[in-house]
Amino acid sequence: MDRIVVSGGGRLCGEVQVSGSKNATLALMAAALLAEGETVLRNVPRLRDVDAMLQLLAALGARAGWDESVPGTLRISGDGVDRPEAPYDLVRRMRASFMVLGPLVARFGRGRVSEPGGCAIGVRPVDQHVKGLEALGAKVELTHGYVEATSERLRGARVAFDVCTVNGTQNVMMAACLADGETVLENAAREPEVIELAAALGEMGARIEGAGTSRIEIEGVRRLRGVDHVVSGDRIEAGTLLAAGVATRGDVRLRGVDARVMEATIEKLRETGAEIEVDESGIRARAFDAPRGVDVVTAPYPGFATDMQSQLMAVLCVSAGSSVVTETVFENRFMHVPELLRLGADIGVTGRTAHVRGVPRLMGAPVMATDLRASAGLIVAALAAEGETEVSRVYHIDRGYERIEEKLRSLGARIRRVRESEGEA
Ligand code: UD1
Repeated sequence: MDRIVVSGGGRLCGEVQVSGSKNATLALMAAALLAEGETVLRNVPRLRDVDAMLQLLAALGARAGWDESVPGTLRISGDGVDRPEAPYDLVRRMRASFMVLGPLVARFGRGRVSEPGGCAIGVRPVDQHVKGLEALGAKVELTHGYVEATSERLRGARVAFDVCTVNGTQNVMMAACLADGETVLENAAREPEVIELAAALGEMGARIEGAGTSRIEIEGVRRLRGVDHVVSGDRIEAGTLLAAGVATRGDVRLRGVDARVMEATIEKLRETGAEIEVDESGIRARAFDAPRGVDVVTAPYPGFATDMQSQLMAVLCVSAGSSVVTETVFENRFMHVPELLRLGADIGVTGRTAHVRGVPRLMGAPVMATDLRASAGLIVAALAAEGETEVSRVYHIDRGYERIEEKLRSLGARIRRVRESEGEA
């Protein structure tokens, strides 16, 4: 298994291009199943999760792959789907796979997708996805660890989600596009990835209003056609790079991301004392002194993203003062805390709240990545720490960060990947 070795303590300075959004891409790949003909997705990041979704689409019988002649381009056609079953092995590796269920039942009348099961950051049930599809008239059965949804033809309905769920909103919204009549989604997630998906579905011929608010209205249509869509920049990758800049008192400029979708992150980093400028060319974060401690509560968009919690915590570990970090979205998302303690951080956790007392410096140590965003937090901390930190199990980070070492190196970081089998790379 690969490891990443960071020699920390240096300031990060320079400019980086942000990759396309992982989460937007995964939903758009599922949406391509709904359309007749080919969908082309551009600015797609080369990530393990994207490859996992490609494998899943291929397993369903779809044609899906990279267009090697145009970097970052995927071509997907769901026309050949003949085995609408998403096996456990693929879904277990990536929960977002569950998003194929809505498109499968809406277009092909049947979908069978393994229940994702628990994961490192919590139970993460899919009951809201199921509730929404049932409301649209699908017959849903849970047998042998699989969720099977069947329907001759879905019909529009009102769905009030009990919890605000991003992929649940996306799954049901996709299904409703091919239902008879009108669907209203209440308490819908308002994340930018929901808006981007709705926009792409609109290009496909769907009739959707209200995406980005908590009430989305969808007027079903008979068919959708493939589109050519450019995926927008990844707000979480961008936030991670800004956090790394602030934690190392550096000067980091980002291109390729819309600052408006990451206002909560920018605001919090500003509260730590960082200077953040936004203009058409991108975002620039500069930090001159130790960051100040701040309190933060994660929440669905437009609140502070749970996916940025560990990276901000890494910044707060080296801050002057104390901070309180409250995680409200997932029940077990402090897996990075024991690892940060190994670097010399001072953090106490009670339930969903972490009390972080800033220390003057962190010290490099061997640590282990436990999930995607936890590993991002560890890399940020490692960059700020003095001495060498070796992060193991980096396959977690490869799920969601494209060429992370290369990007950080371009900012002056001393970071390298050690491949288990091949020696150093
Ligand atoms: C998406 C993102 C993930 C991000 C999360 C929250 C993708 C691929 N992943 O995940 O990076 O961390 O949003 O911003 O887009 N819940 C239920 N029942 C359900 C569904 C969800 O109780 O049927 C709960 C979850 O356990 C969690 C909360 O709702 O506590 C929010 O989860 P959700 O928004 O669904 O996360 P994902 O869409 O899986």
